[in-house]
This record gives sequence, C-alpha cells and structure tokens, in this order.
Amino acid sequence: MPLDPAYLATAIEAALAAGRIHKQFFRQNPEVQKKGPIDLVTAADLAAEREFRALISRRFPDHSVLGEEGAGGAPAVSQTRCRWIVDPLDGTTNFAHGLALFCVSIAFEVDGTIELGVVYDPIADELFAAERGGGARLNGQLIHVSNRATLLDGLLCTGFPYSIRERPQRQVEVFASFLGRARAVRRLGSAALDLSYVAAGRFDGFWELQLHPWDMAAGALIVSEAGGRVTNYSNQPIDLFGGQIVVSNGWLHEDMLAIIQDAAR
Ligand code: IPD
Ligand code: CA
Ligand code: CA
Repeated sequence: MPLDPAYLATAIEAALAAGRIHKQFFRQNPEVQKKGPIDLVTAADLAAEREFRALISRRFPDHSVLGEEGAGGAPAVSQTRCRWIVDPLDGTTNFAHGLALFCVSIAFEVDGTIELGVVYDPIADELFAAERGGGARLNGQLIHVSNRATLLDGLLCTGFPYSIRERPQRQVEVFASFLGRARAVRRLGSAALDLSYVAAGRFDGFWELQLHPWDMAAGALIVSEAGGRVTNYSNQPIDLFGGQIVVSNGWLHEDMLAIIQDAAR
C-alpha cells in the first residue's frame, strides 16, 4: 500500500524547521555540554529535537520517536507500529566549532521497516529525500550513485566513533588500507551527510563502525533508493542497532568488504 503523503510532507517540514534552528545558533557561540570526554551536545541539538517531538506528538499522537537527545532507555523494538528516528543535529562537533558540515536526519519506520528518509543540510540548502520504492532525490531531482568501477578511481569517506580513543588500532589499520588503495579518503564528521553524498555520486563508498540508528536510518534508505548497496561488515543487511555499515555504488562493494574483513583477521 502506498505511504500516506502526509508522512513525507511532515518529514520535510520538520527537517526545514530543524535547519532554521541550526542556523539561529550556528556561529553564535551556542551553549555546549559534554556527554563524554569528546562527545558534545549543544543548545541547537536540544532545541531541534524538542521541536521535532512536539510536532510529531501534535500531528501523530500514536507514533513514537527515537531520537539521540531523548533516547535514554528507548527500546530497540518499537512498541508502536509507526516510529520516527531522528538525529536533530548530525555533525555536532563540526557545528560547535563553526564548521559548516552538519544536517538533520529523519527516518520514518512502519512495523520495523524504514519507509522514508530525509536529510537536510541547511547551510548548503540541500534536502535529500527517499521513499521506499520511489527513488532518491536532492532538492526534488532524482539522484543516482556514481559508476566509478575501481577503488583506484574512488573517493571514499569514513567516520570514527567517540570511543575511538579506547581502541583505535583496527580502525586505523582499515583507514590505512583504504588510503593505499583509493584515490582519496575523507572524514567529514556527519554520517548522515556522508551517506547522502554516496547517494548523490559525490563519494563512491563509505564505511563506519558503532553508528546509532539515528545516524544511518535515513541515509541508508537514501543510498539504496539511489541504486547503491548497503550492508554490514559481513555483507548482510544492516541492523540499525548493530552499528556497522558499508555503502557503495555497488561496483566497489566487494573490494571494500575485503579490506575491512582483512583488517579483522
Ligand atoms: C556523529 C557523526 C560523525 C560520526 C559519529 C557520530 P553526532 O554524530 O555522524 O560523523 O563519525 O560516529 O556519532 O554526534 O554529530 O550526531
Ligand atoms: Ca549523529
Ligand atoms: Ca546528533
């Protein structure tokens, strides 16, 4: 059954609203708190999530919300049929340092399946959106992953979890292997944008460990709707609570998995 268009319209409305909040606080010296030694939360993250939750509870009172800034103790399995998964500000470290690489990420899940995803970068004014089975769009135009067929021609991206300082070795080894095989490797600091850029063909592949559902739910759907491949490190479908993700234009996927799996041996 086709999805009620009210859900995509709500996701876009909420993403634009979050983007306005980001812009109000950006480079205005917003209050920054530490959730861990290097894990930050700013007044903008909190305000954007508060506004999102208020909108959903007004419009769809029987839906639940799994969000980064209010997720304490939220169950992995939704207790409602419909659930929104939101990262109110993905790229908080960039944001707190005045670096214009961040976004809001919103996904909508029905009975455990992600049905739509929206990622919005308010500074570039780029809105990435996908509905399951409907393709992926950037500001309304259909987008597709790249067709670069070798790692040597590929621009890749990755990220590191806030726990990287505890056991960096394996992730540094994987990073080094990719540096030796790809055209170049980037670390932008916003997983949802990284995924959207693979969908748009800017990056040819992306991998990361220990991501949260709100980092990847929307972006993973956007990549697959743009014709890309999305798996975990063992080439299985991703588990939103499993942390691992590898996405690519399809051509580079086997090589990327081989490099990641090699480093694990
Ligand atoms: C982080 C960013 C970053 C990734 C981290 C995430 P946050 O999210 O997506 O790129 O490497 O693993 O936690 O904290 O900025 O929402
Ligand atoms: Ca995030
Ligand atoms: Ca966040």
